[in-house]
Amino acid sequence: MTYPINEKQHLTVDGVDTIELAKTYGTPLAVYDVTLIRKTMRAFKRIFEQENVPYVVSYAGKAFATKAIYQVAAQENIHADVVSGGELYTAIKADFPTQHLSFNGNNKSYDELVMAVENGVGTIIVDNFLELQLLSEITAEKNVIQDILLRISPGISAHTHEFISTGQQDSKFGFDLQTGQAKQAYDIAIKDNHLHLRGLHAHIGSQIFDVTGFEKNAALLADTAYSWGWQPEVINTGGGFGIRYTDEDQPLPENEFADAIIRVLKEKATQYDWAMPEIWIEPGRSIVGPAGQTLYTVGSRKDIPGIRNYLAVDGGMGDNIRPALYQANYEAVLANQPNAKSEEIVRIAGKYCESGDVLVWQEELPATKPGDILSVLATGAYGYAMASNYNRNPRPAVVFVENGQHQVVVERETFEHMISLDQDYTLGDK
Ligand code: LLP
Repeated sequence: MTYPINEKQHLTVDGVDTIELAKTYGTPLAVYDVTLIRKTMRAFKRIFEQENVPYVVSYAGKAFATKAIYQVAAQENIHADVVSGGELYTAIKADFPTQHLSFNGNNKSYDELVMAVENGVGTIIVDNFLELQLLSEITAEKNVIQDILLRISPGISAHTHEFISTGQQDSKFGFDLQTGQAKQAYDIAIKDNHLHLRGLHAHIGSQIFDVTGFEKNAALLADTAYSWGWQPEVINTGGGFGIRYTDEDQPLPENEFADAIIRVLKEKATQYDWAMPEIWIEPGRSIVGPAGQTLYTVGSRKDIPGIRNYLAVDGGMGDNIRPALYQANYEAVLANQPNAKSEEIVRIAGKYCESGDVLVWQEELPATKPGDILSVLATGAYGYAMASNYNRNPRPAVVFVENGQHQVVVERETFEHMISLDQDYTLGDK
C-alpha cells in the first residue's frame, strides 16, 4: 500500500495533514474523509439508477450515528436506518427527513414505537409479534397508517464472525420462516387497517465477501412473498458488504453486490409477472468504514526479547472494541511518514487495564518514538459507535474533513462530562 502524503511526507486525509489535525484537536482523534463518504453513497445510488430499477439506499446509522453523518446522508438524498430511540433522536436533531428513516430492532419499546410514529418515521421494520401488536394499538389510537416491512430470519448463514452473523435460523432477529411464524405475521399485518405492509426485509450478516448469500436472500424473500400469493412493493436485503481492513480482506466493489441483488430480483419479477419491487439496501460499514481513521499518540513500549514488542498508544478498547471483541485486524501507519520502510514488528496496545486491549495484533512499522502519531486505518464503522468510558477514559473527538477543510463534529469528552450524571451518595450520611 502507498498512502497519501504531502510535501512533509505526512499522511493526509482529503489533502489535510493528519499531524496538524492531531496537533489541533489532540488524540485519540477519529477523522473522517467526507469526500469519500459522499463518493460511496453516490456510487451505491448510481448502480440502481444505471439499472433503472426503483430503489432506496439506506445508511445503517448503527455503524456511526452522529448528527453530522445524518446531515451528510440527507444532503446526498439517501435514507437512513435507525435501531434505537437514541439513534432516532440523533437523526431528528440533525433535521433528517423522518419520512426517509426506517426503524429496525428486535425489542423496540412501546415508547420508541410511539416516538417513531409521532415523528413520522417512514417505515418501521417489524421484528416480532409483540411489536406487531403494540404498533397496531398505537396506530389505531392515533388513527394513522404506518408503512411497515416484516423482518424475516431467512435461515441463510453468511461466512462471517458468529457474533455479527444474523441470517441463520438460530437468531434473535426477525420472524422465523421455517416454522411458519413469518406467514402468521403476514396474515396479521395484511389485515390491519392501520398498518400498510409494503414488503419484506432480511439481513444476513456483516463484513461479507461473496455475493451468494445476498443472491439467495433476495430470491428467498421474493419466493416467500410469492408463496403467500402476495406481490410486495419492497424487498429489503439489508447491509453487510465487506470492506478492506488489511491485505487479508479482498472486498468486491460495491456494484457487484448490488448488481447481483438487482439481477435476481429482476428475474423474480419476470418469473412472477410482478411490477419491479423497490430494492432497498442498508449499507453501514461500507459507507463509513474505509472513510474513517483514528489518530493516536505513541507512548510507552515494552520489548520482550524473543516474544513480542508492545507499543502502547493513548487510546484502545474504549474507542475501538473490535479487535478485542471480534479478533478484528487493522492496519496502522506512522502518520509522520507512512511510506517509510518498516523496521520492526509490533503489537499496538491501548492504555486500558486489560490484556485484550489491543488495537492492532501485529504491524510492521518504522522506528517510532514517544509523541509520534500513529493512524489506525478503516476505523470509521463500529469504532466510535461502540466507544465506551471503560476505565473512565473520555471518548475521542470526531473531525470531518472535506475539500481541505476540517471541523469538529463531536467534541472530545471531558472528565467533567463523564461524571456529569454521577451523584454523591448520601444515604450513608448518618
Ligand atoms: N441492516 C441491519 C438490519 C443490520 O443489522 C446491520 C448490521 C446493517 C444493516 C449494516 O450492516 P453493515 O453494512 O454495516 O455490515 N458491530 C459489528 C457489526 C454489527 C452489525 C450489526 N448489523 C462490527 O463491528 O463488526
